[in-house]
Amino acid sequence: MDIRPLADHPGHVPVLARWHHAQWGHLYEDWTLEVAEAELRDHATRRDMPTTLVALEDDELLGSVSLVEEDAPELRNHGDAWLASLYVRPEARGRGLGALLVRAVVAFAADQRVERLWLFTPEHESFYARLGWRARESATLRGTPVRLMDIRPA
Ligand SMILES: CC(C)(COP(=O)(O)OP(=O)(O)OC[C@H]1O[C@@H](n2cnc3c(N)ncnc32)[C@H](O)[C@@H]1OP(=O)(O)O)[C@@H](O)C(=O)NCCC(=O)NCCS
Repeated sequence: MDIRPLADHPGHVPVLARWHHAQWGHLYEDWTLEVAEAELRDHATRRDMPTTLVALEDDELLGSVSLVEEDAPELRNHGDAWLASLYVRPEARGRGLGALLVRAVVAFAADQRVERLWLFTPEHESFYARLGWRARESATLRGTPVRLMDIRPA
């Protein structure tokens, strides 16, 4: 299993966009499948923030995680670096890949000189807490309660 920049595997953009949109489309206004795909195509053009890392096994796509400057516009005042779109395909869950992707993006954020990295999560607070993230406050995104968490990557 390998974690690589999406820029190395741009052919996976359409399927990744479908996974992401099916998972989170309800949380963002005007975030259509086309917008999700355009964002990932943009991420695939670069190797620094904002971009996406992908997990692969024998060229099969297993999951992804993004490092972006803004996730939900409603939360932009909280910080300027966000872990976003952590996703592991259902068949590959429960084997530690989610934790590996989180650690990989935190290390990548340290390389990018990010001092404080944020995320929001509707239901995985304890998963991130086990990886060293601290719960900060609560918010509501389009009717869904979420927890804001942060970590210092360095
Ligand atoms: C959350 C997600 C990325 C975890 O991926 P994963 O590869 O199964 O994660 P891991 O195997 O590293 O699991 C790490 C731990 O979290 C737990 N965990 C995994 N999925 C969980 C879930 N849906 N709910 C609660 N705990 C979960 C595992 O049991 C494991 O616990 P352990 O360390 O005590 O054994 C994956 O379930 C997923 O893609 N979900 C849909 C998208 C999503 O919700 N992303 C997070 C947005 S904030």
